[in-house]
Amino acid sequence: MHGSTWLFPLFALAPFALARAATVPPTPPAQLGLCAACHGEDGHARIPGAPNLAGQPYAYLLQALHAYRNGERKVPVMRAAAGPLTEQDMQALAHWFAAQSPCKPGPAEAP
Ligand code: HEC
Repeated sequence: MHGSTWLFPLFALAPFALARAATVPPTPPAQLGLCAACHGEDGHARIPGAPNLAGQPYAYLLQALHAYRNGERKVPVMRAAAGPLTEQDMQALAHWFAAQSPCKPGPAEAP
């Protein structure tokens, strides 16, 4: 008579799984540490010569990572940085940097 009650826990959990998949970038990607030393966690460059990534379009950032990895853009440091990334890593990083504010006042590291 109560043969279908076992299904209940599955239905109860489904909304959480869906909500998580739909969330865009609020958690920093796992590989962010590989980039932060040069580009900053928030996409504001930390070293001379590294571009700001904050607020650049997702598609542009992803395409740039592909270009470094396949040697189309010949920049050894970026080729090394992009080399170990999976496609999912690159998408997560491109989402993250695209979502950062491009004109945030600089962090308190003025000279
Ligand atoms: C050792 C320093 C260094 C590290 C680490 C590094 N980058 Fe870079 N990145 C650079 C430099 C320098 C450039 C500019 C290269 C050029 O002139 O094309 C660059 C360029 C880029 C660009 C192109 C930006 C543009 O405006 O065209 C993207 C996207 C990028 N990096 C993403 C990343 C990501 C994602 C990571 C981490 C996986 C990373 N970088 C790690 C130094 C670094």
